[in-house]
Formats: sequence, C-alpha cells, structure tokens
Amino acid sequence: MIRVRKCVFPVAGMGSRFLPATKASPKEMMPVVDKPLIQYAVEEAVAAGMTDMIFITGRNKRTIEDHFDKAYEVEAELAARGKLDLLELVQGIVPKHVNCIYIRQPETLGLGHAVLCAEPVVNDEPFAVILADDLIDGVPPVLKQMAQVYAEHQCSVLGVEEVPRANTAQYGIVKTDGGDPAAVSAIVEKPQPKDAPSTLAVVGRYILNPRIFHHLAGVRAGAGGEIQLTDGIAALLHEEKVLAYRFKGVRYDCGSKLGYLRATVAYGKKHPEVGADFSAYLKSL
Ligand code: UTP
Repeated sequence: MIRVRKCVFPVAGMGSRFLPATKASPKEMMPVVDKPLIQYAVEEAVAAGMTDMIFITGRNKRTIEDHFDKAYEVEAELAARGKLDLLELVQGIVPKHVNCIYIRQPETLGLGHAVLCAEPVVNDEPFAVILADDLIDGVPPVLKQMAQVYAEHQCSVLGVEEVPRANTAQYGIVKTDGGDPAAVSAIVEKPQPKDAPSTLAVVGRYILNPRIFHHLAGVRAGAGGEIQLTDGIAALLHEEKVLAYRFKGVRYDCGSKLGYLRATVAYGKKHPEVGADFSAYLKSL
C-alpha cells in the first residue's frame, strides 16, 4: 500500500482580494488570532502524516521561508529573558522529522501551473495539496480524513462540500455518482449556476496521483487566463478513478474578507488564552 508523504502548498498567488494588506507580505502569513494561515495548513499536513512540505512560492514570499526556519535572534532573546514557554512555541513550529522545501513559481500562471512546479520534488508519488486560505476546522483534521480515504481506495481524492447554487461560479464543481466517497464523472471550473452539473464544490484539499503532472503539462490557459488544476483533474478522470470526499469540518474561506473575519471570531472564541474573555466581549456587543 502506498502512503502519502508529500504535501504541496501553492502560495504564489497575488492575494488581490486582500490588498493593501498583501502588497508586500503574503496572504498566507495573515494570522487567525495568533497563528498564520500557512502554519495551520502545515500543522494539518503533519497531523495527516506528511513529512515533506513543498511550498510553491513567488515574489514577496520570503517571510514564509523565515517563518519555518530557525530564528536565532528571537530564540536567543527569549532564552535570555527566561521565556521558555514561548521559546518552546517558536522552536516547535516545525517538528524535527519534517522537511521544508521551497520552489519558486516564476510567473503566476495559475494553480495548475503552481502544482506542476512541484513535479521535480514529488516525482512518482501520490501527494497532497493544501490551499492555506481555505482554513478548515475538522476533527480529525481534514487532510487526515482524506489520507484515510486514499489508504483505502488508492486513487485521487478531492475534498468537497455543498455550496449555494448562486455561488458555483467561485469553485470547481463536480458531477458524481452520489456515493460516499463518490466517484467523480466530470469536473468544471467556475460554472455559472445554470450550467453547474451539481452544487458540490472542490475546496482547498486534494490528494492526487502523480499522473496528474502529465495532464497538467498539456493544459492550456482556461478560465481567467490561468492554467487550472481543475482542467488537469478533468483529463485525469478519463484515465483513473477520482473520488470526491465530503469532509467533516467547518471551512472558512480566508481568501475573502468575510470568511477571514468569521474564522477570526470562531478561532478567537475557542482560543485557550483569550477565548472566554472574547466570547464575553462578543455577547456584550
Ligand atoms: P486564488 O484563486 O485564491 O488567487 O488562488 P490568489 O492570487 O491567491 O488570491 P486573489 O484571488 O488574487 O485574492 C488559489 C491558490 O492558488 C495559489 C494561491 O496562492 C492560492 O493559495 N496560486 C494561484 C499559486 O500558487 N500560483 C498561481 O499562479 C495562482
């Protein structure tokens, strides 16, 4: 049985919906309470048993590399001040057995192209993809749920959820046989509500077989002038079984302002340090 060990984090996007916050720093470094989005994503991957974290980065993304690297000055300062709990927090961001690998996407040609940039490191293995701006609160963590589905079925798995029909033009939408997990028979990028084959949307979690690279290499720019991951998956479908898995968890679209604010409230309310006071404050409003 093949196990998934590698996780790709495409973080090269512009983040234009969050300008000016994302003018000089990446959207994935925006914190929800006290942790950047990309750290939630890495923690989810670690919980799912991944050992190689592959970041597809672009311009203005150096803070992501710094975040997962050793921070000599901060660590020395915390040690000197005897703040050992904080020192442990900073040193424990990446467990010792986990590797961080960075690949530059030279041009933001689309999510499909970003994933294709990971091929030289992923090689011939199945791999996961997490879009850090889809923050999902799941127990067990959603990628772990999906890794279990992969272990059982040994084929690509897409994380999906129901969305209102009015919103289909924001997502890749799948047509399935209705099972659980369901076999995908078609996938379309950003269909208008009247054209959508269903209201089951692919969100930012994937486990893909390496054959996807072959198809991504052949994809031409599609919706929005970008090389779409959806088009690669559509081609893969003709060759291999692909499953849609309705994950158990609550998703916050932190690529949008409203989703980000919702995540901040939800995670703020259950935060061990400030949760009780924050909840009381919200009630008082
Ligand atoms: P989005 O569609 O959310 O685009 O990309 P974006 O640029 O990040 O944000 P907006 O829409 O301008 O506000 C989905 C994911 O794909 C990555 C992004 O970083 C994000 O995680 N991506 C997108 C790349 O890595 N490279 C690309 O060329 C495009």
